[in-house]
Amino acid sequence: MSLHLLSSFPKLELLGAPTPLEYLPRFSDHLGRDIFIKRDDVTPVAMGGNKLRKLEYLAADALRQGADVLLTAGAIQSNHVRQTAAVAAKLGLKCVALLENPIPGASENYLSNGNRLLLDLMETEVIGVDALHDPDAQLAEQATRLEAQGFRPYVVPVGGSNALGALGYVECAQELAHQSEGVVDFAAVVVASGSAGTHAGLAVGLELLLPETELIGVTVSRLAAEQRLKVEAIRQQLSASLALTSSAPITLWDDYFAPQYGMPNEEGLEAIRLLARLEGIFLDPVYTGKAMAGLIAGISQQRFTREGPIAFIHTGGAPALFAYHHMV
Ligand SMILES: Cc1ncc(COP(=O)(O)O)c(C=O)c1O
Repeated sequence: MSLHLLSSFPKLELLGAPTPLEYLPRFSDHLGRDIFIKRDDVTPVAMGGNKLRKLEYLAADALRQGADVLLTAGAIQSNHVRQTAAVAAKLGLKCVALLENPIPGASENYLSNGNRLLLDLMETEVIGVDALHDPDAQLAEQATRLEAQGFRPYVVPVGGSNALGALGYVECAQELAHQSEGVVDFAAVVVASGSAGTHAGLAVGLELLLPETELIGVTVSRLAAEQRLKVEAIRQQLSASLALTSSAPITLWDDYFAPQYGMPNEEGLEAIRLLARLEGIFLDPVYTGKAMAGLIAGISQQRFTREGPIAFIHTGGAPALFAYHHMV
């Protein structure tokens, strides 16, 4: 089996080069385990993050369909919406975003700073909704409204997570395999598992290219039982589109996302402080801080199945720190 079909999907070159894979010497010393970090937080558009890899495929599809609007949805502090708006700006498209507030009693700072501030700079049309209770239906309704106004909207699903967007993370797995070849044999890869496209793409790519490496998804949005269905659904469609089969167990760790999506916890905040202090790298309070808390606890609790170095996929999100500054 191979990934030969990957190059048959139209793609916009937005990344330009593989993201760095860095060794973290001081953090590794601190934990007594070799830790590497895949710097998808420094992808080159609009302060970086994991969505650019997905948008390379999704925006290419939008252009192919003649779209003039990228329409998407997320939380007020969504990194996905920021990166989608930036790609729209780069391509000269309009961006419309449905935004929900996941945090009851959120501060003014949460409502207006960080990622939300950047949306205004990019002149994103923001539509506030009480809740994204059925995002696909809510996006379809907005698409109909835009069409009635003469636009040609392209719906980018929440988090850019469908089989097409997840191709970007099959490519990330490919990069990781190339960059580690002959250098380091990863016992495990750790990533935040949210709308699930990142996790699903890595699952398909790593099963083929680094089959001895365990992939751990740390839940940040919902508990594992529900999250597993999301990862599985995208993995199924993705592997079928690449004419592959993917059946390795999906591993999800649940213990690090309380109290809920979008609300920081002490372990995650401590992970943010630790990486900042020891390595000058910024994690975020919603995704990567919690995922790193999982990595740290996973080591101390011996949850990894193999000894050896661990790769952390830094999926970005630091712009949200400015919206959470009263908490960190
Ligand atoms: C910083 C960051 N990390 C991780 C994720 C999770 O990726 P996915 O939604 O593909 O599971 C997101 C998604 O919004 C994110 O913004």
